[in-house]
Amino acid sequence: HWTAEEKQLIASVWSKVNVEECGAEALARLLIVYPWTQRFFSSFGNLSSPTAILGNPKVRAHGRKVLTSFGEAVKNLDNIKATFSKLSELHCEKLHVDPENFRLLGDILIIVLASHFARDFTPACQFAWQKLVNVVAHALARKYH
Ligand code: HEM
Repeated sequence: HWTAEEKQLIASVWSKVNVEECGAEALARLLIVYPWTQRFFSSFGNLSSPTAILGNPKVRAHGRKVLTSFGEAVKNLDNIKATFSKLSELHCEKLHVDPENFRLLGDILIIVLASHFARDFTPACQFAWQKLVNVVAHALARKYH
């Protein structure tokens, strides 16, 4: 269900993404903008202010891990459900993350990409990426269904 153009737009943005930087920023923004998400990360130490969150090495490391994992979706566009089946089990059955949060993180990722790539993140790019983050959120929430 991907057009050749969508695949190309996703791949070209992804090839320019710095996974460490963008991953850290996306997770930090999630924790700052939607503070209730902090409760899943009580073992991460100081999350008391935006500055603390942005400078927290555990947030950075986990953000990188999450965006690296997101890269598996980019590489397996036609098989995202299977790719994230184990992760869905972890987030749903073990961590009990409300699936709404997968959507929030996806939207935050779009904002991070838009702010990093500015005019190169065209409306057509945004369309393809929004579709991708929706599919990923759906795949991660699957074990709830
Ligand atoms: C752990 C991916 C969204 C909460 C993980 C891990 C990965 C991952 C790869 C490590 C799994 C392991 O150690 O085997 C993703 C992806 C997401 C996503 C791809 C969406 C694009 C979220 C959201 C939350 C969340 C929205 C909560 C608001 C957690 C927690 C852990 C975890 C609490 C365990 C952290 C720890 O203590 O090490 N996730 N995640 N994840 N995720 Fe996610």
